[in-house]
Amino acid sequence: MTAQLIDGNALSRQLRSEVATRAAALKARGVTPGLAVVLVGDNPASQVYVRNKVKACEEAGLHSVLEKYDATLTEAELLARVEALNNDPSIHGILVQLPLPAHIDDHKVIEAISPLKDVDGFHVASAGALMVGEVGFKACTPYGCMKMLESIGMKDLRGKHAVVIGRSNIVGKPMAMMLLQANATVTVCHSGTADLGAMTRQADVVVAAVGKRNVLTADMVKPGAVVIDVGMNRNDEGKLCGDVDFAGVKEVAGYITPVPGGVGPMTITMLLVSTVEAAERTAA
Ligand code: GUN
Repeated sequence: MTAQLIDGNALSRQLRSEVATRAAALKARGVTPGLAVVLVGDNPASQVYVRNKVKACEEAGLHSVLEKYDATLTEAELLARVEALNNDPSIHGILVQLPLPAHIDDHKVIEAISPLKDVDGFHVASAGALMVGEVGFKACTPYGCMKMLESIGMKDLRGKHAVVIGRSNIVGKPMAMMLLQANATVTVCHSGTADLGAMTRQADVVVAAVGKRNVLTADMVKPGAVVIDVGMNRNDEGKLCGDVDFAGVKEVAGYITPVPGGVGPMTITMLLVSTVEAAERTAA
């Protein structure tokens, strides 16, 4: 059996065109959705990410502001910038790119963002809203994974067992919560899990979000399962690869997301969706 690909680029194109339509409708009412992206320091991966985020905004007709600061920016200065953006009516979403330099407390900065503008979904209020099923912004990567499942007819996961590998605050934990909200039975595995394969072999849906190559191999996958690969790693040849042994697992799985061209573009897409949503909420 060869798995069908879930194409994150194609799905992103479709969702981004819906964002552009919604942005145009808001503009006609005098509101241009605006995203502020704040980057501190010169982490090369972060520079690529923020550039892609800003470019995606422009393509969808959103207003975007990129604020770049030297790694010497103080925590107090960054908190003051966040406060100014909280009070800026042209900005509906604020994203502070992580990681921040070591002298700045990530948590303190994220908590300073107004939950009404927290389009990354990292604020405690956003995480709490997800936990109790209230309206809030969802973390973009797991939100994108849910849209990928929806695209193959798996919006409601009642009766399905989903296994998440990884428990980060920005992917694993919110992913588990979103799957639970979609009525799946959810198991969260991590480095302390005794027999990972025994868990994943039971799964109808596996989400791998560890940040390590070959975390999921063909022998660990139930035939026909859906495999979502959140990983972004480099292989020995320096090529981008995920957490899943793609060549092996695609022979067993029913559906699989590629890397690149899978979850990656969906993360940015959901950031645009949340920004337009934030602007719609203020314009309502
Ligand atoms: N660093 C890695 N992923 C992300 C993300 O989704 N948002 C932010 N703000 N920083 C990140």
